[in-house]
Amino acid sequence: MKIKLQTGRRGGKSGSVLAVGTFEGEVRATFQALAKTRNFSAHSGESLFLPEKNTLLIGLGKSDKFRLQHVRLAAAQVLSQAKLLRLKNVAIDLDSLRHRVDLTEVAAAVVEGARLSTYRFDKYKSKKNPKPVLEELILLASQSSGLQKAISEAEIISEAVYFTRDVANEPPNVMTTVNLAKAAQKMARENNLTCRVLGLAEIKKLGMGGVLGVSQGSIYPPQFVILENKVTKRTASEPIVLVGKGVTFDTGGISIKPSSDMDKMKFDMCGAAAVMGAMKAIANLKLPVKVIGITPLVENMPGSKAQRPGDIIRCLNGKTVEVLNTDAEGRLILADALAYAKRFKPRALVDVATLTGACAATFHDLSNGLMSTDPDLAARIKAAGEASGERCWELPLWDEYFELIRATYADIQNISKKYAGTITAGMFLKEFADHTLSWAHLDIAGTAWNDGGAKPLSPIGATGVGVRLFINLVKSYL
Ligand code: BES
Ligand code: ZN
Ligand code: ZN
Repeated sequence: MKIKLQTGRRGGKSGSVLAVGTFEGEVRATFQALAKTRNFSAHSGESLFLPEKNTLLIGLGKSDKFRLQHVRLAAAQVLSQAKLLRLKNVAIDLDSLRHRVDLTEVAAAVVEGARLSTYRFDKYKSKKNPKPVLEELILLASQSSGLQKAISEAEIISEAVYFTRDVANEPPNVMTTVNLAKAAQKMARENNLTCRVLGLAEIKKLGMGGVLGVSQGSIYPPQFVILENKVTKRTASEPIVLVGKGVTFDTGGISIKPSSDMDKMKFDMCGAAAVMGAMKAIANLKLPVKVIGITPLVENMPGSKAQRPGDIIRCLNGKTVEVLNTDAEGRLILADALAYAKRFKPRALVDVATLTGACAATFHDLSNGLMSTDPDLAARIKAAGEASGERCWELPLWDEYFELIRATYADIQNISKKYAGTITAGMFLKEFADHTLSWAHLDIAGTAWNDGGAKPLSPIGATGVGVRLFINLVKSYL
């Protein structure tokens, strides 16, 4: 599907249906009578096709509740209606979707909504889904200033989300640690990033006890990937460092998980995939901010070589950890990755991980869990999440919580003595990010994949959460 901008003159290509955004209680006079007889009240997610007017009315909800997310959802709605109506092309009236925001933001949100909602992962289906009939989406606008740029940037961002979804949706027998590192290297080559991959020997030499402990039960060696964008010398100092959990499959290890739904644990590398996708977009948008993406990649398997509950390991920063549950593995590999980030003297350090079932139990798929040592960074992340439709809600990291992970035989234990599963995981990570004053942790356990519920912006599988949030976060440092 092509997305094309058309400005100035009103009215689409002759014959093409025009989609018009409509706020609740603000239906245009020309459509009012028809809307009324067909019970259209313009709720968000509602739409009405008026063949006699060649118009598709798209509900935006109440105007005082307006967020850019409604525009993304409206675009998704246009595409699903276009599919039902078997349209070859459709036009969207951008001005009708605008409320207290720039038209450029509306255009970008329409492109994101259109692209994110039509993503499919069917490479392993012998019979592919039929190709969509829609060939062209026309964005109609009253003015042109900055619109083409906003559209191209939204295309770059959507492509990055596609990359993240693609690698995350690959099955765990294909997307092994080694293959995921290779995918990162290939992506880096094609997108003007530098990429370093540390293998087993270097990881041992550095003393990454967490990465080694988790991966020792797998036939696939751990990989430690470091991506960097290329910026001019002037902007090279003080990078933003992004860290993503990359467990290509999480069986739980010796503390093995129940078999029902265990297949979902192929998505336990969504944090790593989000960091890789964000780096791709940051490079292509040519953002003049130094950004480094770090992804430790392991597979968590049981077996005679696997680590045991009770094992004590030493992480890269010298701290010792009593592994009381081998299923709390994400924090062990992130510990080493966060400690590794010290060498870059980050101005902000942010990790993202499908870390705790407790976070999904708290927020379902409506918010990421956010924990931070820096109120300014937390505020930037909240704003970035709000703007991208990837909301974050902050949980406290009070010192008292440390008592729940103080170990009997080592410095720290990898599970809580009682409750507060999401926060104690954050407290654990904090011990390894103590070299910087500005650190934040994002738990995406509830948001990283769609189990099959109706989500207009992402089909079943990996959502690509984090990519657009990170892009907005980096932009906040411009
Ligand atoms: N990858 C899981 C977290 C997870 C669980 C994400 C369910 C999404 C859905 C993580 O490695 C894990 O197993 N965490 C344990 C920690 C516990 C043993 C302290 C959990 O949440 O049960
Ligand atoms: Zn686990
Ligand atoms: Zn895990």
